[in-house]
Amino acid sequence: MLRAMKGQTDSARDPIPAVPRLGVNVDHVATVRQARRACEPDPVAAAVLAELAGADGITVHLREDRRHIQERDVRALRGFVRHMNLEMAVDRAVLAIALDVLPQAVCLVPERREEVTTEGGLDCTRDPVGLATVVRELSAAGIVVSCFIDPDARQLQAALGSGAQAVELHTGRYANARDAAARAEALDDLRMAAAAGRELGLRVHAGHGLDLRNVAAIVAIPGVEELNIGHAIVARAVMVGLERAVREMKDAIEKAAAGLRQRRSAREEEKS
Ligand code: PXP
Repeated sequence: MLRAMKGQTDSARDPIPAVPRLGVNVDHVATVRQARRACEPDPVAAAVLAELAGADGITVHLREDRRHIQERDVRALRGFVRHMNLEMAVDRAVLAIALDVLPQAVCLVPERREEVTTEGGLDCTRDPVGLATVVRELSAAGIVVSCFIDPDARQLQAALGSGAQAVELHTGRYANARDAAARAEALDDLRMAAAAGRELGLRVHAGHGLDLRNVAAIVAIPGVEELNIGHAIVARAVMVGLERAVREMKDAIEKAAAGLRQRRSAREEEKS
């Protein structure tokens, strides 16, 4: 069934980067600021430092309740960072801001006021027409749109049907798995979803709950070209500084990608 819609988008024909890009989510810098309704720490300054330390892009989530990132942060960021990925709900008010600010990328996420963080993936099957309308408006403005989804065949198909160029696979079940068996199963689902997504012509990103210990297995999934990581980097930054925290994550991703390349070429040498 997944193959039936193959070829609808050209995005997966773009080469996959040898090392997945790192998008640093700076929401939690704003969380600390909002705890006191103060001016500091400034997520825009943090974003600039993160890019200087090697981040390939900056991600922020403008939530309806404005619990961390504010509209003015989004507007300011656009002028300061090279690549901005705006996470947003499928909502007309935030859509208007996105179309005015024009980030390079938008990731459509579900949003519930009572949640601590984004809990599940977006249900792309719930309102396909509404979703496709928002994707069309964003895409027409030149924004690369992804849907944050659970690694599930129906969601991949629905995301493709919406016209989105990319999916971001929710890695939370893998990251929060209580034992090795549950982790292996979650990883298998991510692997299968990444392969199916590429097969359908979608770009594949991943994120949620990733940290220095668990990121390597996600880097090892063929086809994953971008990782969005927030809490682990900002939490580590409190201890060692933001530049070091970003650098450490970037190094972990590069090391995992290099290991993968070595294993692949060893296998190819064995075959020949
Ligand atoms: N990707 C998406 C779509 C998210 O909603 C979040 C959380 O804001 C992340 C990635 C980053 O998750 P974490 O903060 O757990 O690294």
